[in-house]
This record gives sequence, structure tokens and C-alpha cells, in this order.
Amino acid sequence: MIYRPRRNRKSAAIRSLVEETKVSTDDLILPLFLLEDPKAQIEVKSMPGVFRLGIDKMLKEIEECLELGVKAFDIFPVVDESHKDKLATKSYDNSFFYQQALKKVKETFPEACVMTDVAMDPYSSDGHDGIVDDNGNILNDESLEIIGKMALSQAQSGADIIGPSDMMDGRIGHIRDILDANGYTDVSIMSYTAKYASAFYGPFRDALDSAPKSGDKKTYQMNPANVREALIEADLDVQEGADFLMVKPALAYLDIIKILKDNYNLPIAAYHVSGEYSMLLAAAQNGWLDKTHTMNEMLISMKRAGADIILTYFAKEFAQLRKEGKL
Ligand code: PBG
Repeated sequence: MIYRPRRNRKSAAIRSLVEETKVSTDDLILPLFLLEDPKAQIEVKSMPGVFRLGIDKMLKEIEECLELGVKAFDIFPVVDESHKDKLATKSYDNSFFYQQALKKVKETFPEACVMTDVAMDPYSSDGHDGIVDDNGNILNDESLEIIGKMALSQAQSGADIIGPSDMMDGRIGHIRDILDANGYTDVSIMSYTAKYASAFYGPFRDALDSAPKSGDKKTYQMNPANVREALIEADLDVQEGADFLMVKPALAYLDIIKILKDNYNLPIAAYHVSGEYSMLLAAAQNGWLDKTHTMNEMLISMKRAGADIILTYFAKEFAQLRKEGKL
């Protein structure tokens, strides 16, 4: 035998020399759920180990993360039913607790990178990402107006990266125009380029209490069966001025991450979503899977597929394990 591939696997030292893919804490963004009550801390039932936090608790969490090297945070508001309406008006009210919290985070930790989510669902009494008309249809162009105001309000509150997750047509260009017209040329846009109509978002909708009141999201989120549509979305996002392209979910969509990486020069992000987190947690709690190593393998697979950035609920845990030399 001339070739013995096992020679390159014979010791930890050699294995690390030939290792092709490395996940770094630098690549990670931690999603956080914000509660209105500043002192509250409530675990998400379907996401063991993930807590919804009031701003006081969130500042502490961000401080701990920054010490571990996690520098970027995607903050989502948990909005009480009493604040929701058909036009999601709280989403662009700068005095609302979400916008106030963003301000506080940036004042306290100017070095942190704060990302926000643009979509009407947390603020909408219909639980949809756009405006719902009397026949249950989602109104694209009317929704863009609200989405633009929401993005501007988040930029005014200190957001570094705006994350449009609503999947309305034309949203990236619309948001870019409004940000630029108001002097926010430095605020970035991470487009949810290929966001699929996925069953993996269930625990997130529990966390935010944001599930659609009727119907589903299939007229705006993508069909899980389609690849080429992701290229159409990516073309549009590039033309409209996105700074990052995101694929969501991640694990069941590694082929989409790969094809965007191979075809575009913008940084590619993968959103390792709530259901992917919960699946592993459930198995780990039953003693069926080793949490640490399965988590690491999942993150490596996203990196290997081409993700430059990973949004993951494991970000803090990964950073902690890495710091302790356990990964
Ligand atoms: C809001 C939004 C969702 C997620 C991120 N932004 C839910 C949805 O579209 O229904 C899901 C994230 C996750 O599951 O972790 N539009």
C-alpha cells in the first residue's frame, strides 16, 4: 500500500495539523430574547437552557459573553399581546421597550455588535411578517412601508446590523434607501436571503409567542424543496445592497450554504435555528447524544459547507468550552 490515509490521523498533533475547518468564537452571533420587565428571566420551555431576559439581566449576559469573546448579538423582543396591532405600530416606536433596550446595550457596550430583526410578526396581532388583508393575503408593498420604518427606528436606536427576516420582495433595496436617506449609510444589512418555510422555527415562536394566528408563511418564506430560488433571492439581495447573505435554517440546508458560498463573494451567514437547538437538547437530556461534541460537529458542518458566520443559541456555551480547552 502506498497510500495509508490513517498516517495523517495517528496523533492529536497531526490531526490538528491537517484539520481543514475550524469554528472560532469570532464567527458566532448569539440570538437573545428581550422581555419588557427589566428584571425578568424566564426559561423558554421548548429550549432548555435558553432564557428570555429583561434588560437588566440581558446587560449582564452580554457582559459575560463579551468576556468570553462573543461580540455579536441578535436581539428579538417578546411583545405582550396588548401592544400588538394589525400594523405592528410598536415596531417603529422609538420609545418602545425594545428600542430603548437597544440604546442601553449600545451605550453600555459600544464595542458590542448589535443586530436586530426586521419582520412584523412579534408586533403583529396576526402573527405574520407582513400586513394581512381581510382575505388573509399578505400585502407586499404596503408591508414594505412598515418594514422601512422599523429598520430606521432600529438604526436610530443604535443597531449595527439590520436583519430583515420578513421575506417581502424588494425589502433590502427599500431598507437601504431609507437608511441612506436618513444618514445611516454605515448601518449594515444582513439579509435573510434564503429563509425557508420551516418546521424548525417552532420553539422560537414559543419564545416570542409569535406564531401566526391563522394560515402559514408559505406565500413568503421559501419552499424547502427549492435550491435555484435561493440564487434568485441572492441575486436580488446583492443588487439591492445587502452586506451579508444568510441561509436559514442551517443544518438541513447545508447545500444552500454551499451554493451561495460558491456563487457570491459576500460573507455567508447560517442561522442554526431554535428547532435545531431543541432537537439536540432533547436527545442530550435523554442521554442519547453527547451535547458538547454533537454541538461542535453541527457547527463544524456549517463552517465546512461555507458559512463565514453562524447565528447560534450555543454561542456562549461554545465560547466557554473553547476557553476551558474542552473543544
Ligand atoms: C421572525 C423570525 C423567525 C425566526 C427568526 N426571525 C420566525 C419565523 O419566521 O417564524 C426563527 C429563528 C429560530 O427559529 O431560531 N420572522
